[in-house]
Amino acid sequence: EHAGHNMAATQDNTQATAPVTQPMAAASDSSMQVLTGNAFTLTAKESMLHLDDQTMKTAWTYNGTVPGPQLRVKQGETVSVTLKNELPEPVTIHWHGLPVPNNMDGIPGVTQNAVKPNESFTYRFTADVAGTYWYHSHQNSSKQVDKGLYGSLVVEPKTSAPVDKDFTLVLDEWMQDDSMAEMHGGSGAMAGMNHGTTPASPGTSAGSGHDMPDMNGMSDAKMMPLMYTIFSVNGKTGSAIAPLRVKEGEKVRIRLINAGYLSHKLNLQGHAFKIVSTDGQPLHNPPLVKDQLLNIAPGERYDLEFVANQPGAWLLEEKSSNPGAKSLAVPIVYEGQEHAQHQAESANPLPVVDITTYGEAAKSSFSLDQAYDVTYRMDLNTDTRDGQMAFTINGQTFPNVPPLDVQKGDLIKVTFVNNSPEDVHPMHLHGHFFQVLSKNGKPISGSPLRKDTLNVQPGESYVVAFAADNPGEWMFHCHDLGHAAKGMVSEVKYA
Ligand code: C2O
Ligand code: CU
Repeated sequence: EHAGHNMAATQDNTQATAPVTQPMAAASDSSMQVLTGNAFTLTAKESMLHLDDQTMKTAWTYNGTVPGPQLRVKQGETVSVTLKNELPEPVTIHWHGLPVPNNMDGIPGVTQNAVKPNESFTYRFTADVAGTYWYHSHQNSSKQVDKGLYGSLVVEPKTSAPVDKDFTLVLDEWMQDDSMAEMHGGSGAMAGMNHGTTPASPGTSAGSGHDMPDMNGMSDAKMMPLMYTIFSVNGKTGSAIAPLRVKEGEKVRIRLINAGYLSHKLNLQGHAFKIVSTDGQPLHNPPLVKDQLLNIAPGERYDLEFVANQPGAWLLEEKSSNPGAKSLAVPIVYEGQEHAQHQAESANPLPVVDITTYGEAAKSSFSLDQAYDVTYRMDLNTDTRDGQMAFTINGQTFPNVPPLDVQKGDLIKVTFVNNSPEDVHPMHLHGHFFQVLSKNGKPISGSPLRKDTLNVQPGESYVVAFAADNPGEWMFHCHDLGHAAKGMVSEVKYA
């Protein structure tokens, strides 16, 4: 079914055959605009998003596209990005994963005033750490990111192992029926994330004559995959998703970024691959794996590399357990094999790569003798204040979760315990990377695993640690932005 691509996809791909022999790893993407240099302007504005020929959404965008343009900068470069706001609501830009000075972190009411309609703000920071990042609004983010206010940011290393093709795939999901948008965001009053509106109750807006199951009383975790049934890659869905065009023998990198609300389990058909980095941080001597699923949670990034040594027509795909969903499938097309049939997927269930045992163990950079120590128990509760469903840390919602008041130079150890029966909590720390020390009480046996967003699944516990080396007031929250809007947010503060 992926053999015949529509006109839009074909036109997009005429640029994909451009030579990729520049000295720095050049982006090979034809499906998004790539901006290079060190001074950029991003204009927040409304725009029509054509997910495919039949599916259009009124999106909120940076520069008119979803995702916004990829900003591609060199490590060590001082970058300026001017945000102009042409939307009817205030917006910001948060540089997800990249440690920037606190006053450039884009948190309205905390690190800056939100940029009002018709106003602008210039972000300036030095791109110190190479890797795959993304940017998104942090104002009403459960709504604004959902409407499309995000893009990718790649910091190219000073010295890079060259690849022949370098693709970025930004994953997201959309609702068939946008009237359900209020259901997930909630009404939690928290910095930069609240809707400030009363959420519709699931019973009232869900079953309104559409072909939807009755979601009355359904948990958030069960409801989300039923609501968000259109999966997109770089703003396209189904057969409109642009194929990755490769030649036999090429070394290919795929940068995966999850900008959505759902985790995606992806299978790279036919090829052995390596996960070379996660959240921009390299893994040490990663092994080749094959027929294993990569699970990417909201906010996470994974960079894969493989050698294109299996001519044919393949997919990077997810099989959805929801039969109503348009599944996520990115064609991989070898030059000269444009008309080949895509391979059938394997019938057997595939195992998921365990990132905590992945890569060769190398020396940890942390010794934790005198660390500040805190435990976050994430749970789903009824908010004592208003009786609404709330996502809590230690039984509290933001701003009542006590912040981590630390000192510059401290080593901080945080234990995450996911007590929710079904909800996944990808916990994200701003301004720092943390090292994952243990999972369910067992030390991490793989590469030193350094991340800014850690996918904590129901029943799991992790211990992570970070160094307080970037003073300021930093958000620490679940990157299911609906959970964050319903309270699952803390802060780290130091001068
Ligand atoms: Cu991706 Cu607090 O953000
Ligand atoms: Cu969560």
